[in-house]
Amino acid sequence: MKTKLDAVNKKNILCIGAGYVGGPTMAMIAAKCPDYRVTVVDINPQRIAAWNSDDLPIYEPGLDELVRTVRGKNLFFSTDIEGGIRDSDIIFVSVNTPTKTFGAGAGMAADLQYWEKTARQILENSVSNKIVIEKSTLPVKTALAMERILNSQPNGISFDVLSNPEFLAEGSAIRDLENPDRILIGSRETKRGRSARNTIVEIYARWIPRDRIITTNIWSSELSKLVSNAFLAQRISSINAISALCEKTEADVTEVARAVGMDSRIGAKFLNASVGFGGSCFKKDILNLVYLCRFYGLEEVADYWESVVNINAYQQERFIMNMMTAMFNTLAGKRICIFGFAFKADTGDTRESPAIFIAKRLLEEHAEVVISDPKALDNARIDLSGLAGVLDYREDPYEAAAGCHALAVMTEWGIYRTLDYERIYREMAKPAFIFDGRNILDHAACFRIGFNVYPIGKPPLTHFDS
Ligand code: NAD
Ligand code: UGA
Repeated sequence: MKTKLDAVNKKNILCIGAGYVGGPTMAMIAAKCPDYRVTVVDINPQRIAAWNSDDLPIYEPGLDELVRTVRGKNLFFSTDIEGGIRDSDIIFVSVNTPTKTFGAGAGMAADLQYWEKTARQILENSVSNKIVIEKSTLPVKTALAMERILNSQPNGISFDVLSNPEFLAEGSAIRDLENPDRILIGSRETKRGRSARNTIVEIYARWIPRDRIITTNIWSSELSKLVSNAFLAQRISSINAISALCEKTEADVTEVARAVGMDSRIGAKFLNASVGFGGSCFKKDILNLVYLCRFYGLEEVADYWESVVNINAYQQERFIMNMMTAMFNTLAGKRICIFGFAFKADTGDTRESPAIFIAKRLLEEHAEVVISDPKALDNARIDLSGLAGVLDYREDPYEAAAGCHALAVMTEWGIYRTLDYERIYREMAKPAFIFDGRNILDHAACFRIGFNVYPIGKPPLTHFDS
């Protein structure tokens, strides 16, 4: 139902999918375009209820404040998907596109069932022309399928399909949305396609300089998103591969990364060696790229990109084996405290977090596992539910570490840098170990306190005779 408000609203924007991307992105558009009415819909009523409450469904610095300024004014969260489609001029589709778990392409290809359902729902409920925008990350050429579904009925309604992939990173989503490196909008290179594209350029141009809004053909746009994530992940796997060599040669991976990254052609970002990258997208998007390459018969290209994911798995298993070797070749019965369960700092998201793999492997080795995280304990409980073994969850890091044989740092939360490690050491079993999967602690200081310290890609600092 249109309301009086719509008389002053220039256009109605709908976003289908109220997740990590849909919610924050639409909140920013609503804040920057007060004359647009923005509605975010989802099939999950709990998620929508949370977006309408004081306890938002995701944690992201600055999100609460942003949502508070626009919700109920020109930003609305609703479960009425059909009504939303009917009333909208512009539809962003931001549903999840996970890796397929069944049938052809299982474990590799993108599962497009949610995507396709949305396309059919848009067709069934549309009574006016619409611009439909792929916000989700999709395999190149998905827009073709969307166009074919939308144009399958001669109903006099025209649909323009655009690609506008999202590049925000979790933990810095609001900053990224406010001040993005670039906005990418792809369309068909036809008069209509370009005109639809300009409509979306005008929205972003409200707050983003024009030279940072780039337009391309639709296939380049779809592919650029997959390739951006693949390049970012490739840098992490590259430095992680080198961290293994550093550990064999007494080189220090932080020093190597600094020396390499100061070459302006290479750059310093995304060269932090770690226990491995996590998050809902890197692995999924690379596997999707690999699947596409194999589909087109490009085996060598597929193998090249697949190795980025393989190194990530290797790095995680290597972390466990390093723990095992350092702790006298057995983890059984030892109590290990995991500092951080989120896949990165400043988020409660644990999707594909290396901590999940590490916790499972520790339990397989019959270690007892205590998990601490400032924001991700609820998700950790879900991720590890039903696993056999001794598992404990403590928000307070001091309580979590007490009585443990080792600390394993999995997430680069700022608080872990500033804890009182003297106190932690006093309350731990001896000899006490630290395995710093993020290289964020002051290793020399921890060593002086008495810990045996095992960083990533650096010589360990131990009190044992060699
Ligand atoms: P998410 O799982 O947090 O949210 C997706 C939402 O879509 C869910 O709430 C789900 O209930 C809803 N949904 C699914 N099918 C629906 C339907 N038919 N109708 C209405 N709602 C439906 O996922 P996300 O992290 O927001 O990611 C969405 C897309 O954006 C993915 O393709 C992802 O690759 C991409 N992406 C994510 C990020 C990120 O940081 N998470 C960044 C850039 C791009
Ligand atoms: C990533 C991209 O950075 C975004 O541009 C993209 O939009 C998003 O994926 C997506 O498509 O979902 P995100 O996964 O939220 O964002 O977070 P990143 O900062 O990229 O970190 C990913 C993982 O790599 C984390 O586990 C992080 O700890 C790890 N990482 C990152 C390292 O191990 N080393 C680094 O140097 C950088």
